[in-house]
Amino acid sequence: MDRFCLIAADSRDRHNAFARDVKAGLLARPKHLNCCYFYDAEGSALFEAICELPEYYVTRAEREILQAHAGAIADRFPQGVRLVELGSGNSAKTRLLIAAFLQRQEHLQYVPIDICRVVLQESARELLRDYPKLEVVAVAAEYREGLRHLRKEAERPKLVLWLGSNVGNFDRGEAAEFLRQVRDTLGPDDRLLMGVDLRKERRALESAYDDAQGVTADFNLNLLTRINRELGGHFDRNRFRHRAVYNESVGRIEMYLVSTCAHTVRIDALDLEVAFAADEAIHTENSYKYSLAEIDALAHAAGLVTEAQLFDGDRRFSVNLLAPARSPDALRCD
Ligand code: TRP
Repeated sequence: MDRFCLIAADSRDRHNAFARDVKAGLLARPKHLNCCYFYDAEGSALFEAICELPEYYVTRAEREILQAHAGAIADRFPQGVRLVELGSGNSAKTRLLIAAFLQRQEHLQYVPIDICRVVLQESARELLRDYPKLEVVAVAAEYREGLRHLRKEAERPKLVLWLGSNVGNFDRGEAAEFLRQVRDTLGPDDRLLMGVDLRKERRALESAYDDAQGVTADFNLNLLTRINRELGGHFDRNRFRHRAVYNESVGRIEMYLVSTCAHTVRIDALDLEVAFAADEAIHTENSYKYSLAEIDALAHAAGLVTEAQLFDGDRRFSVNLLAPARSPDALRCD
């Protein structure tokens, strides 16, 4: 199909990176696993289910904002703009923007970048079916690799999307550093649209990451299932439980898999025996929440300026339209 192309990293390299990171993380003290590995096909499907949960307000709040403002956002861009998305998942909310752009221009190129190849292929098929004037160039890669691809195609104006408060999965310093790299791919007329979840009371946060139906627990535990399948692990999911706590002083949800008893787990492909004490935790994710001042500081540290900041009716979530700040060199030439 000529409206679709998929660029994928070598699957052997990705398998080796998974093996290396799991080994390093389980040998570390405290133990940790990198959250990018949540998103195999099963994990991506579970994450889509999380997005529909009554407790997980993040997706609904962001959708509300995009519903209200997609047209006004699209109006700010010249004809022929491309849409690029970091961590696109099933692109469900992005449809609001795709539809808005296609009302204003004949044709649209959309470049979804996601670590999960299966989810990219499935969502591209549905997008191409629903939007005959859309072209999809899908990139199955981690963020950093995806950025390299962006840099290569710098000529046409673009809007980069980074939704879902995915920025929150980086530490604050790493987030600024990564955003600087995104900024470096932006020309003067390019923009970044970034969804950022806001600091709020503990109860709302903790239930968003530990829902009553246990879908988030399944999502977290799926990481162990993935290690079993891909690395010959012998994890018994029943010996671990999901834990989500809000660390208010640093403003982040912390997610753990906690061993319920003292036991040892073998992982064949790593030739590794991992000992767990009772109540020992594997740290699997952080989700940082931002105050408005922290969003400002983040943008500033990354060399970005805020052109518009949009909120849902309950002010739980923000969508930020960011432009590259003029560099000191450019100012000096003026
Ligand atoms: N980026 C999402 C967030 O921080 C990821 C996420 C949502 C998540 N719920 C989760 C990750 C539960 C692990 C477990 O909101």
